[in-house]
Amino acid sequence: DHQQYAAGEPPLPPHVLIFPLPLQGHVNSMLKLAELLCVSHLHVTVLLSEFNHSRLRRHADFESRFSRYSGFRVATIPDGLPDDHPRNGERAIEIVLSLKKVGGFEFRKLIESTDALSDGGSRRRVSCLIMDGVLSFAIPVVEEMGIPFIYFRTASACSFWANFCFKEVMEAGELPLKGKDEDKYAYWKKEELDLIVTSVPGMEGFLRRRDLPSYVRVDNADDPGFQTILTETRRTAASSGLILNTFEDLEGPIMDQIRKHIPNVYSIGPLHTHLKYRLDSEKVESTQNSSSFWEEDRSCLTWLDSQPANSVLYVSFGSVTILSNNEFLEFWYGLVNSGQKFLWVMRPDSIIGNENGDENKVPLELEEGTKARGYMVGWVPQHEVLAHPAVAAFFTHSGWNSTLESIAAGMPMLCWPYFADQTINSRFVSDYWKVGLDIKDTCDRVVIEKKVREIMQERRDEFVERARSMAELAKKAISEGGTSSSNLNRLIEFIKASI
Ligand code: UDX
Repeated sequence: DHQQYAAGEPPLPPHVLIFPLPLQGHVNSMLKLAELLCVSHLHVTVLLSEFNHSRLRRHADFESRFSRYSGFRVATIPDGLPDDHPRNGERAIEIVLSLKKVGGFEFRKLIESTDALSDGGSRRRVSCLIMDGVLSFAIPVVEEMGIPFIYFRTASACSFWANFCFKEVMEAGELPLKGKDEDKYAYWKKEELDLIVTSVPGMEGFLRRRDLPSYVRVDNADDPGFQTILTETRRTAASSGLILNTFEDLEGPIMDQIRKHIPNVYSIGPLHTHLKYRLDSEKVESTQNSSSFWEEDRSCLTWLDSQPANSVLYVSFGSVTILSNNEFLEFWYGLVNSGQKFLWVMRPDSIIGNENGDENKVPLELEEGTKARGYMVGWVPQHEVLAHPAVAAFFTHSGWNSTLESIAAGMPMLCWPYFADQTINSRFVSDYWKVGLDIKDTCDRVVIEKKVREIMQERRDEFVERARSMAELAKKAISEGGTSSSNLNRLIEFIKASI
C-alpha cells in the first residue's frame, strides 16, 4: 500500500470498516468499539442504516461525541424497509431478512467506490472489516478484495455458543420443542420446558429447554429467520477472529469451548467501562457518549436525586421488547402492589395498541400508586441510572448490554427475558453468576410483587455482595494488564498487521 501516501508523509493508519446490525443494542456496543479504535489512532468508518443514522442525529449528541476523533466517519446504506416499518418486537428479524436481500448489492457498491470511503485520499482503502453476525453477504465482497474480516457478536458468549450448537441439539432430538404458537404462557408443557439439554458442551446439566433462545420453541426448521441464525453462526469459524463483549472471569469456560472451533476469540468487555478507562488514560474528555435512538429524558435523574439511597427499582425492557396490554397491566400491578419505588422506562412504541391510542383507561389504584412511588419515562441515560445511589436493583429483559452494564455497576437483577438470547442470559444471571432472579415464562402480578420484594429487600444483600465482586473482576479485566485490555491490544495489533 505504499502508493497510498506521498513521499515523506507519515504512512496512513489502518482503516477499519465496522458494520453493526441496525438495532440499538448492536449499534451501542459496536460504536463503543469504534471509539476505542479511534482512541488508538486508527481510522474507522461505521456503516449505519440510513434510517438509524437519521435517528441518531436527531436524538443523540452523536455528532459532537465523534467530532473529537479525526479518524471517525460514518457511511450509510438503506436497510430496504419502508420508514414506517415498526422494526421492533418479533418483527425486528425483518431487518435482517431485508438486509440480506438488498445488503449484498449496497455493500459492494459502497466498498468498490473508493470515493465514498477514502475521503479524498486522506484514508487508505478499507484494510479490515469488523462485522456483526448474520451479515454474511459482505463476505464474498471483502474476500474478493483480500480484506480480512472479524466477527463481532454483540450477545453473550453463552448464547453465541448455544446457537453454535443448535445443529447438534437438533440432531440429538432435543429440538424443536413441540407446542402451538397461541398463548405464550399456556401452550408449553411445563415438563417439556424443564427437560435438561444435554448436547451443548460445557453446559451439560445446566440448561433447560426453556433457557434456549426463544426462536427454537416452535418447529421452525423452515423459518428463514431461524435458518439465517443457524447457518450464519456456524460461518463464524471462517473468519479471522471473533470479538465478544464479555470478559474471561465471566464466561471463560464457555469461551474455551468456542475456541475449539474459532481459535481467535477476543473478549474485550465490558465495552462501556473499557472505553471510559481508555479515554481517562488518554485524558480525552468523555462527557458525550450517547448513541440512543430515542431522546433521553434526563428528568429521571432529578427524580432519583430526591429519593433515598437504595430505594428504587429501575425497570426497563430494552429497545425491542413489545408488551401486550395484559402484560403491561400485570407488571404495573406487581410493581405498585410491591410497595417499592420504581423508575420505569416505557418507550413510545413498547405496548401493543398504544400507537393507535386505544389503550384502556388506567385503573385508579395504579394511577395513585405510581404518583406516590413511581416515575415513568420514555428513555433514560441507562449508565447514569445504574450508577445512581438511589437505585437498588434492575428489573430487566436480560438483553446482553443491559446485563453487562448491570454487572459492571454491581447491581442485582430481576430478569424477565422477552426473546432471543435473553432467555439464556437470565439463566446464567440467576443460576451461574447468582446475581439475580429469573422469572421467565411467567407474567403474573402476584409473582411479580413477591419477586420485586425479594430482589429489593429479602435477598438483596446476598445478590449485591456477589454482584460487587463481579464488578471488581470486570474492572480488573479492562484495566492495564487485564484480559480484556490485552485482548483489545492484540486486536489492534492484528488490524495494524493487516495493511
Ligand atoms: C437486543 C438483545 O437482547 C441483545 O442481547 C443483543 O445483543 C442486542 O439486541 P436490546 O433489547 O436493545 O438488545 O437490549 P440490550 O442489549 O440490553 O441493549 C439496550 C441498550 O439500550 C443498553 O445499552 C442500554 O444502556 C440502552 N438503554 C436502554 C438506554 O440507554 N436507555 C434506556 O432507557 C434503555
